[in-house]
Amino acid sequence: MNASVIRSRYLAFFRERGHKEIPSAPLVPENDPTTLFTSSGMQPLVPYLLGQPHPLGKRLVNSQKCVRFQDIDEVGDNRHTTFFEMLGNWSLGDYFKRDQLPWIFTFLTQEIGLDPRRLYVTVFEGDASVSKDTESIAIWKELFASVGIDAKEGERIFAYPAKKNWWSRAGEPQYMPPGEPGGPDSEVFFDFGEHRRLHEQSLWNDQPCHPNCDCGRFMEIGNSVFMQYQKKADGSIQELPQKNVDFGGGLERIAAAANDNPDVFLIDLFSPMISILEQCSRTSYGQNQEPTKSMRIIADHLRALIMMIVDGVLPSNKHQGYALRRLIRRSLLHAKILRIADMTYLSEITEQVVDAYRDPYPSIVECRQTIIDTLHEESTRFAKTLERGMKEIESADVIDGKLAFHLYESFGFPWEMTVEIASNRGQTIDRKQFEDEFRKHQELSRTASAGMFKGGLVDHSEETTRLHTAHHLFLAALQKIVDPSIRQRGSNITAERLRIDVNLQRPLTEEDRHRVEELVNKKIREGLPVIRVDMEKKEAEKIGAQMEFGKKYPDRVSVYFIGSQDNFFSAEFCGGPHVNNTSEIANEGQVFKIFKEEAIGHGVRRFKAGIVSVV
Ligand code: SER
Repeated sequence: MNASVIRSRYLAFFRERGHKEIPSAPLVPENDPTTLFTSSGMQPLVPYLLGQPHPLGKRLVNSQKCVRFQDIDEVGDNRHTTFFEMLGNWSLGDYFKRDQLPWIFTFLTQEIGLDPRRLYVTVFEGDASVSKDTESIAIWKELFASVGIDAKEGERIFAYPAKKNWWSRAGEPQYMPPGEPGGPDSEVFFDFGEHRRLHEQSLWNDQPCHPNCDCGRFMEIGNSVFMQYQKKADGSIQELPQKNVDFGGGLERIAAAANDNPDVFLIDLFSPMISILEQCSRTSYGQNQEPTKSMRIIADHLRALIMMIVDGVLPSNKHQGYALRRLIRRSLLHAKILRIADMTYLSEITEQVVDAYRDPYPSIVECRQTIIDTLHEESTRFAKTLERGMKEIESADVIDGKLAFHLYESFGFPWEMTVEIASNRGQTIDRKQFEDEFRKHQELSRTASAGMFKGGLVDHSEETTRLHTAHHLFLAALQKIVDPSIRQRGSNITAERLRIDVNLQRPLTEEDRHRVEELVNKKIREGLPVIRVDMEKKEAEKIGAQMEFGKKYPDRVSVYFIGSQDNFFSAEFCGGPHVNNTSEIANEGQVFKIFKEEAIGHGVRRFKAGIVSVV
């Protein structure tokens, strides 16, 4: 069964059960500085999981484009990818375990046709604050019994601690920042069979093989999170006012299970790319470990970076742009390892990815040329960087593990490539030294990202909420003072500042800048109400509510009005959150100010602004 059939059957299955389909949110999250990329379907839905009503109701379904960089160093095995599609369904305080688990079981066994004897499930074993999930165990037993399987705990149903069966964006309960929602989860694993084990032994605490042992036999294909808790400021875990379900299933992994082959690179979304790579490298996939690994890395990275470009990311040395550049460079290096000299594979693979995704994500078609141009420009640029890296190697007396790591980090040289170069000089490199450097670096970036999470939206929700409303005022003021055709092209808000990208050909004049700031400050002083109204998209378009350029919206949307619905200063398609009244944006003695303005692309200018004290 191919992936597009699985995707459409999944969406139809949940639509038939009262769910409304929402479009995939962009890969670059809006108004969420805590993370570079959308990495799960629930991420854009946090306000609704916390209780804000969703314009489309309490049952939602979608296929969400996701990027996870945590696993980048695992890409090359048969299952890890940086980009994937997550099939999601959500209950926003509506149904719970009694409906969710049977639906997932029915979907996997009847719609996709997976043999129930090949399914294994896990649940939360409980801890000091939340008890063992015996309800899910009972439901799973009934479900397996309905197909003649006696599902015993410890044989088919396994209970694990929070490390495995608790889900929140920050991980286990102790890592959740105050305000963060999360809960116990129940995962479904597919058993590919004993012969698929990559390791003789279970890798989990010397226990016999079981779903979470990572030996290669089992693969997680879906996860129902019972998102019913929230971390409180005092560190406790308390029930949310509503009990939610957040299900996520990896489309590629479900397709691999349907194929009965754990290699996700053999599903239809990847196999044409692999064929192109086989042809241009004159190497067969699957025969030898290293070339197979390189082909998987190239296929994964190219697909991920194409999807990132479609969502507006361009190569740069910062944030998302840096991540994109890293993917391009890693893929080019692996093409070098495969001795691919003819760069036409870049266009061929782009065409193939465009074809595979033109139905679910039509905007990919118009980005085709931008993708090809970006890849070619970057490959020329990278050839120069490689030369610099090679010079560093040539001038070094010894190629040791530290230098290998420096080359990996600064120039993107994979370990295997440095080892090739070193062996030409008759040298061997200490792998352990390389790995030690690698671990040190990982530790540092983990600490940095934990800090980033803490400093983000969740901890400072009041500040970001104020700036979010100021952001709406700012856009309206730019349109009223500078040019009514100005449209938002991107945004990002932290506790310290707001950032907005707009289409604008020229810099603001001193006078315009002053008048825009003055108008925003006037609206703050006027203390206008901020009102949210759910309405049909067509109606919202008719009254001129602002939407972000290029973004896809569902048929029913929420619109935030500043002023009144009949006489508004600003009206924008938006999920919130916002202050209730513009007077909350600034305290006594504080004003709105534009901090910075720059051109970031052809006809697009970026502004950073915020609230400052004047006394
Ligand atoms: N949020 C959960 C996950 O990402 C389920 O959707 O796995």
